[in-house]
Amino acid sequence: MPKSILVLNGPNLNLLGTRQPEIYGADTLPDVERKCRDAIGEWGTLDFRQSNYEGELVTWIQEARDTHAGILINPAAYSHTSVAILDALNMFEASVVEVHISDIHQREEFRHFSYVSQRADHIIVGKGVAGYVEGIHKLIQLIGS
Ligand code: DQA
Repeated sequence: MPKSILVLNGPNLNLLGTRQPEIYGADTLPDVERKCRDAIGEWGTLDFRQSNYEGELVTWIQEARDTHAGILINPAAYSHTSVAILDALNMFEASVVEVHISDIHQREEFRHFSYVSQRADHIIVGKGVAGYVEGIHKLIQLIGS
């Protein structure tokens, strides 16, 4: 398997930076991508994507089975609703790290449960966009082990 990590961002994360900055901070999604690229360094390649569509995320996860050694995913609102994304991740045999910018466990009750957490090998919440950097490092560690 190529040394390649797929970073997937779910709905509304395209508006990071302007979207509720008091919760999600001032960094934009391109800022997050840059931080992820710095974090992966020379280790391998990074594929950074965002979609507002559940089915597109499902298709990308299916395709990643043959192309990527790990997935870092912020499923955004689909975390709390999507059995389809969980099912797709259950077919992905390599490592999966779930990241949330905010602490979903300290927010509204409907955010406390994440379907994706049923599959994730590691979960990072409430560390802001720094959680993505931590997630990349964790994936590199999991893939290497
Ligand atoms: C989020 C938390 C979700 O509850 C929310 O729907 C998001 C972003 C986070 O990164 O904190 O869109 O995944």
